[in-house]
Amino acid sequence: VLATLSLLCLAHEASVLDDSSGWSNYSFPDDFIFGVSTAAYQIEGAWNEDGKGESMWDTYLHEHPDFTADRLNGDVATDSYHRYMDDIQIVKDLGVKYYRLSISWPRLLPNGTDNNVNNAGAKYYRTLFEELIKVNITPVVTLFHWDMPTALMDLGGWSNPLMVDYFVDYARVAFKLYGDIINFWTTVNEPHQHCYNGYGSTIFVPAINSSGVAEYLCSHYILLGHAKAYRLYDTEFRPYQKGKIGITLDAFWGEPKDANKQEDRDAVETYLQMHFGLYAHPIFSMEGDYPPFVRERLDTYSEYEGFARSRLPTFTEEEVKALLGSSDFFGLNHYTTYLMSPSTMEPGWKVPSLEHDTRVKLEQHPKWPKPGADWLTVYPPGFRKLLNWVTNKYGRNVPIIVTENGMCDHGQIDDYERVSYYNKYLYQLLLAIHTDGCKVEGYFAWTLMDDFEWTDGYTAKFGLYSVDFNSPNKTRTPKLSAKNYRGIVKSRRINF
Ligand code: NOJ
Repeated sequence: VLATLSLLCLAHEASVLDDSSGWSNYSFPDDFIFGVSTAAYQIEGAWNEDGKGESMWDTYLHEHPDFTADRLNGDVATDSYHRYMDDIQIVKDLGVKYYRLSISWPRLLPNGTDNNVNNAGAKYYRTLFEELIKVNITPVVTLFHWDMPTALMDLGGWSNPLMVDYFVDYARVAFKLYGDIINFWTTVNEPHQHCYNGYGSTIFVPAINSSGVAEYLCSHYILLGHAKAYRLYDTEFRPYQKGKIGITLDAFWGEPKDANKQEDRDAVETYLQMHFGLYAHPIFSMEGDYPPFVRERLDTYSEYEGFARSRLPTFTEEEVKALLGSSDFFGLNHYTTYLMSPSTMEPGWKVPSLEHDTRVKLEQHPKWPKPGADWLTVYPPGFRKLLNWVTNKYGRNVPIIVTENGMCDHGQIDDYERVSYYNKYLYQLLLAIHTDGCKVEGYFAWTLMDDFEWTDGYTAKFGLYSVDFNSPNKTRTPKLSAKNYRGIVKSRRINF
């Protein structure tokens, strides 16, 4: 199969890769972490079973069935709450030694608070983690992958400062329950997508669309929640549990629309600072706090609109310190690249668009492949450039772990495009390590199997395994890309 594949892909390779010479000679270091990722709401189902509370995605999608492309929700999903042994089997079949998954906050704490732990939920995760460990797979546990308990969302979610302590209480419960067997944690997944899409627009739940206000409250309190959970682990649990804990940030890469134009090159930097540096700088830079550039930009806007104060809240000195260095690794999710240039929009912030704040216009390259969702074009060299950007800006202190990377299509089992995507993106990662000296220590493919893809419902398929959603046991079938990934993991090389 792989021989046929190589023939099919080869012609295409040369056109997309920046540097195709000697590429199969690179290999992944022996201790390189290979894994695969999922998230609770996207796979578990069992939305109201065994004492689980509602998450904001449960509640919102029940009330607004039109919100998703196919009017479907995560009520059943891949039914992983009941079929976790099937999941473990396919993770094992991939040959990876790490499985990144998330805890559903309301399955553990139905009303969001630690005064009511759901024992059945607690037991579910304990069993799942133990079964993984039995077959030598290390669970990498995310505390918050977007499914906030509805009871807390009703209090304003991350726009409310109280959320910081609710989150830390939840983290404490998780560390106490599982810290004896879990030694690899992430606090929050992709705060930018969560805050911007959910609080600054209506792309994701809670669909607040405050247009330029609540998303910065969300960023602020989610960062503080992360830092406080990190400090809690560091002081109370790490001394005897000896694990590592970090945050996962997401970034598109940007290419200047016209590489000869300085303003287009500047637009890329501006965009990265505004949507990525906003989260990375307080944690990973040498100075801490928000990037001065971003603060200035949001201040200026407030003045322009006649506001006396910035929309970006201020950290106290103590908070700056708590945030600085609060991640043992740089968790990075990356999928795609956009062309960037200065926005021609009039300044102003009462429009649901990040373009107003960044003043950067994003466009897709007309020639780059777009195999599935509208937002995802394939441009492998962007991955290497992003890894270098992160390394140069922040990555010298901590290793980078790619916590998600992948692409979606319409569900083909012979998914040649996905095979090619993984091969090319992983090749760029190898170049980043071997040629550029980036300290990348791990890579998690997104995702294990086709699942509930947020607003796209089940129409966008990201899985290495396909799932027959109509079959009673939600049969999982390996795609070609699963076999290809297994080959890479086993040989530590990209096999063409
Ligand atoms: C990142 C998110 O963490 C994940 O939940 C989502 O499914 C993938 N991107 C693909 O869109």
